[in-house]
Amino acid sequence: MRTKVAIIGAGPAGLLLGQLLHIYGIDNVILERHTGEYVLARIRAGLLEEGTVRLLDEVGVGHRAQAQGLWHDGIELAFAGYRHRIDMKGATGKRVMIYGQTEVTLDLMNARKAAGLTSIYDAADVTPHDFDTDHPRVTYVKDGTAHEIQCDFIAGCDGFHGVSRASVKGDAIETFERIYPFGWLGILSDTPPVSHELIYSNHARGFALCTMRSRSRSRYYVQCRLDDEVEQWPDERFWDELKRRLDQKAADSLITGPSIEKSIAPLRSFVAEPMRFGRMFLAGDAAHIVPPTGAKGLNLAASDAHYLACALREYYDEKSSAGIDSYSAKALARVWKAVRFSWWMTSMLHKFPDQGTIGARIQLAELDYVVHSKAAMTSLAENYVGLPF
Ligand code: APR
Ligand code: PHB
Repeated sequence: MRTKVAIIGAGPAGLLLGQLLHIYGIDNVILERHTGEYVLARIRAGLLEEGTVRLLDEVGVGHRAQAQGLWHDGIELAFAGYRHRIDMKGATGKRVMIYGQTEVTLDLMNARKAAGLTSIYDAADVTPHDFDTDHPRVTYVKDGTAHEIQCDFIAGCDGFHGVSRASVKGDAIETFERIYPFGWLGILSDTPPVSHELIYSNHARGFALCTMRSRSRSRYYVQCRLDDEVEQWPDERFWDELKRRLDQKAADSLITGPSIEKSIAPLRSFVAEPMRFGRMFLAGDAAHIVPPTGAKGLNLAASDAHYLACALREYYDEKSSAGIDSYSAKALARVWKAVRFSWWMTSMLHKFPDQGTIGARIQLAELDYVVHSKAAMTSLAENYVGLPF
């Protein structure tokens, strides 16, 4: 088989890149190691920046998000027993949309299928080859038969544990990493959200976040120990701990119910540099990971896909390699700002084992400053709604 761009990974980065390349008339094939059902079964975050929504509209899959997504003008920061609203729309003129990543993935998968584009699911042993030459190729095994795809470019959209970054020689890549000393225990429940906007809570017992998937389905998180197991957190314990970490009004109005999903995720900041290796480009979680506190993971995958698709369109339409030559620097400039913001939000809101009493007081002072300073509030807001592409 031959194609212009072989995309490894059918998560948001790979699927969005595939649709953008398609509307730019650039033939592409997606190789995914799991089934589509497996990919859709993953529970992920659900907050879209306006730029991400615009990209979904650009590739013709934004209608369900526009119909079902919830536009939010602000968020609330809770600390010292009170909630303070950050008016993001008022500060920046921008909003964010609550719309599950699973729905984004489904919309992109359906659009790809409707366009008759080639996606090979359940592809085993996907391996990029010769990406430091002008004739890269990707091999894989499907139903026990070995196959090869010859291509012009490879897009490694295969996430943090993927094969693309792992295929790069050690001396050609530099990585930066910070692992946080706690995890997030998250649950999904078919209960109405405790508030119409998100509540990020700094509490002496640990961080908590109240978010949602719709007006009837809530998503809650509490900071937990890294060595905690889900089994140690029956629903009753979770709800009790969440109430303890919220202000009284929220605790009193919280509607609890059976969890329909419960999982623990570690928090990490990670960046690989560069994001280009000859004719192979990395995009999304394959190149960077952010703690979910800033809700940037999916939105960075989207901006990477946008930058890479524009670069490849320039290569094919204008016979110019300027875009592909500048892709890594351009993507990393936005990635690092999101890494900083996600680290800052995480540092301000979570209980760190070694922070001591002075660390806790400095956090409260920072929160008090942020919610009472127009400049500080605007800075948080413009990063949260998404810096320009
Ligand atoms: N071969 C083929 N596919 C692979 C391989 C491989 N060797 N390794 C991983 N994959 C697939 C995974 O099964 C997954 O479907 O690549 C896809 C990567 O998708 P994501 O991990 O979702 O990464 P990305 O598309 O960059 O989206 C980032 O997803 O995980 C969240 O928090 C993250 O919101 C962020 C978003
Ligand atoms: C979510 O809805 O899952 C979510 C929202 C905002 C975050 C993290 C997760 O910062």
